[in-house]
Amino acid sequence: AANKNILMLPGDGVGPEVVAEVRRVADWLAAERAVGFDIAEGLVGGAAIDAEGAPISEATMQKAMDADAVLLGAVGGPKWDGLPFEQKPERALLRLRKDMELFANLRPAMVFDALVDSSSLKPDLVRGLDIMIVRELTGGVYFGEPRGIETLPDGQRRGVNTQVYTTEEIRRVAAVAFELARKRGNRVCSVEKANVMEAGVLWREEVQRLHDESYPNVELTHMYADNCAMQLVRRPKQFDVIVTDNLFGDMLSDEAAMLTGSLGMLPSASLGAADATGRRRALYEPVHGSAPDIAGQGIANPLATLLSFAMMLRYSFDLDSEARLVEQAVEAVLARGLRTADIVQEGTTTVSTREMGDALLEQLSSAVA
Ligand code: NAD
Ligand code: IPM
Ligand code: MN
Repeated sequence: AANKNILMLPGDGVGPEVVAEVRRVADWLAAERAVGFDIAEGLVGGAAIDAEGAPISEATMQKAMDADAVLLGAVGGPKWDGLPFEQKPERALLRLRKDMELFANLRPAMVFDALVDSSSLKPDLVRGLDIMIVRELTGGVYFGEPRGIETLPDGQRRGVNTQVYTTEEIRRVAAVAFELARKRGNRVCSVEKANVMEAGVLWREEVQRLHDESYPNVELTHMYADNCAMQLVRRPKQFDVIVTDNLFGDMLSDEAAMLTGSLGMLPSASLGAADATGRRRALYEPVHGSAPDIAGQGIANPLATLLSFAMMLRYSFDLDSEARLVEQAVEAVLARGLRTADIVQEGTTTVSTREMGDALLEQLSSAVA
């Protein structure tokens, strides 16, 4: 088979530190498992602003559009926070999502047995937890028009953003959720605020309609977003697949991350629609950001990014056994008590980002020996 073209965009802060460890695992797979990768790297976010004058260059955008899959570290940081909106590092990420039409953002929150005690919730509430949050990623209040800041005649300023969803935007992301549910626990909880927002009313109606037409055997429930936020910390195991809009999905996935022990553990996949040849654009990234408070210290947890790479192996390349190999290496290293600072507990050993990478490579080598 032809080599897979991967574009790695390390970005800012801890991004380059965690992507470097994934790069070593990818190189290991290429060498030891004869998986053909052509890996290119590019600049994104603040790193691109500093070197090229924009958060993402047209050339890098084109490489992302052409790649079989993109792996992104993180973008942003205090150095660039003062820039005008359109020039901020975060714009690169929003543009990648929008131009690549990555409308479905999969954010699994899984609790590894070894990390049950790292969760902020009681062990019984999270042991075995396996939730899939499907976040709509190219619509809603993130992109809705009108938007902007205007000055009113009386001199006050007014900031405007608009929540908008169309039938098609709702149906295509809901379809992804139903398809995923069928391969998991067969339950979907659709989350909005239909009690206060018209876009939420439409969301609920369209999800229900799609369900009745095409997925009647999947169990569908509806929940208001504020209740969902509460239920996630009250009794998280009630959920299988959650499907929700861009903003609620952003918040609920950070909340779910903490159930797993650390934001440093949560991977994500952002997927577009399949074209006629079955190819779909895809971008994989940790849910966390550039973590400016710990950047440069070599202590960031690389596992969210590594697990994002495992999702790439599974969803973009159909390399299920390689994905499992990587996930099992993560499990094994955690079971040995090796922890980056964010998930350290009594009786475990604190390791650096690089040492975690070393341990993973050792584990992978012994797994195939
Ligand atoms: P953050 O996710 O960067 O950090 C939140 C907290 O989690 C920090 O205490 C951080 O140290 C910790 N943390 C995050 N990742 C970690 C890891 N891998 N290992 C250990 N600890 C980790 O969120 P923030 O501080 O709100 O945002 C910082 C910058 O990142 C901002 O500029 C923001 O816009 C940007 N951001 C980018 C992305 C992205 O690129 N996808 C996502 C979120 C935030
Ligand atoms: C995320 C981030 C982004 C978002 C920002 C950095 C644009 O928080 O990926 O969760 O809000 O979507
Ligand atoms: Mn977020």
